[in-house]
Amino acid sequence: LMNQSPAEFMRPTTRTRGTSNAKTNGVGVQVEDTRICVVMVGLPARGKSLIAQKVVRYLGWLSITAKCFNVGNYRRTATPQPNAAFFDTSNKEGERLRKAAAEAAVADMVKWFKKPDNLIAILDATNSTKARRRWIKERCDAEGIESLFVESKCDDEDIIMSNILEVKTTSPDYQGQDPEEAAKDFRERIKMYERVYETLDEDEADMTYCKIIDVGAQVIINRIQDYLQSRVVYYLMNLHIKPRSIWISRHGESMYNLSGQIGGDADLSTRGEMYAKALPDLVKQSAGDLPLTVWTSTLKRTAQTARYLPYEKLSWKALDELDSGVCDGLTYAEIAQNYPEDFKARDDDKYNYRYLGGESYRDVVIRLEPIIMELERSENILIVTHQAVLRCIYAYFMGSPQDKSPWMEVPLHTLIKLTPRAYKTEEERMFANIPAVSTFREKGSKAQHQETEESTRRNSPMISGEAKA
Ligand code: ADP
Ligand code: F6P
Ligand code: PEP
Repeated sequence: LMNQSPAEFMRPTTRTRGTSNAKTNGVGVQVEDTRICVVMVGLPARGKSLIAQKVVRYLGWLSITAKCFNVGNYRRTATPQPNAAFFDTSNKEGERLRKAAAEAAVADMVKWFKKPDNLIAILDATNSTKARRRWIKERCDAEGIESLFVESKCDDEDIIMSNILEVKTTSPDYQGQDPEEAAKDFRERIKMYERVYETLDEDEADMTYCKIIDVGAQVIINRIQDYLQSRVVYYLMNLHIKPRSIWISRHGESMYNLSGQIGGDADLSTRGEMYAKALPDLVKQSAGDLPLTVWTSTLKRTAQTARYLPYEKLSWKALDELDSGVCDGLTYAEIAQNYPEDFKARDDDKYNYRYLGGESYRDVVIRLEPIIMELERSENILIVTHQAVLRCIYAYFMGSPQDKSPWMEVPLHTLIKLTPRAYKTEEERMFANIPAVSTFREKGSKAQHQETEESTRRNSPMISGEAKA
């Protein structure tokens, strides 16, 4: 054992569907060949697409391959900008085209499920009648796909009005049109749907469903069958739509950062201490008087960084830095010298590489899952944590791919504000302008931690995320 290098212990969690009918997935459990079609249900402007998009991003972050099939997109190829009359159920041509769009989406979904890794599809449409839902269930049953109906029911006029204004008037259905006319037509469209809309009820008691009423004020669940389904439902139950931001910062510069060592439980450097003192003002400039809660890890450097912040604090073991196992306390140059194979293996697949006796980014994501769930439930949180952990949290909100997220640059002495919006997360970075070493190491380099170039830093707002389907 002692002669083996960490590379021989590297165990990327590859999934083996096709060679075995049981496999591990991102949430670290064995999943039998479960394939789930999550069928959205509800009137227009009830947050269905938003929920669908969030579920896809959450599952993708956990390495569960999921994809959204948006029926509106299929319908738009034939009918790009219909007016409300198109959705009148007495409009025969409209009915025919809408059914054709639904059929095309379901057919593509069934095809997509043929690939062994593809586990969860979301069928994003109104699916507002019992007949339509029965048809989908039968199609899924015939293919051995589980169906999970997720209804968003909301009668709060204010919410619906603001949904219409916020999202639907920027939809491709109304692109280039007068926003007031668009909103008026969209309200007409909703009326067409209301005439035939049937909520999920006891007639569908044989179906698996989750009915979210008034943005989660009440949730009714029926016949949830297995681990993956309950996972999805649990996530849905924790979502809210109150506007909020999440602030994230690394701890101030530590003594280990100065010496280029990784891991450990070092104290802050003098400049790190300066950042801790500057942080309350930096946060106040960005968050004003909002009552924040501060989450730190259990390591000294995060508690020291947070100590002057005038908010309630909570420390989480799950926020501790990626455990670098036998390499803890070494510099990158020492790792390259003592464990050359490992050093290369990590560069080749940084997300999956697991330090001997330590963790991979994939492992960190799995232990962060409860943090993400709690973040979804919470309102305004400031997290003071570590480079690798911050990258994983960031990847969840931004939907960053696994081959990119471990390489993201996140300098010390920088506060990041993330604001989830309907279809994207906005990002803003604020620099404390207190010098610090750079702990960023490019692929292939053995760089010692270096001083950052103050001149390359700017306070720049950035926006990223997915566009509305
Ligand atoms: P749909 O796909 O149902 O037509 P969208 O997803 O495009 O609706 O609507 C997005 C809007 O709905 C967003 O402004 C979002 O904040 C809001 N929203 C999200 N979840 C819900 C919910 N459970 N109930 C009502 N509105 C919601
Ligand atoms: O150098 C600071 C640090 O937080 C180390 O403790 C940790 O091992 C490292 O960054 C993680 O970054 P990377 O995955 O790029 O090595
Ligand atoms: C649509 O056409 O935009 C749509 C969602 O279709 P349906 O309501 O027929 O599912």
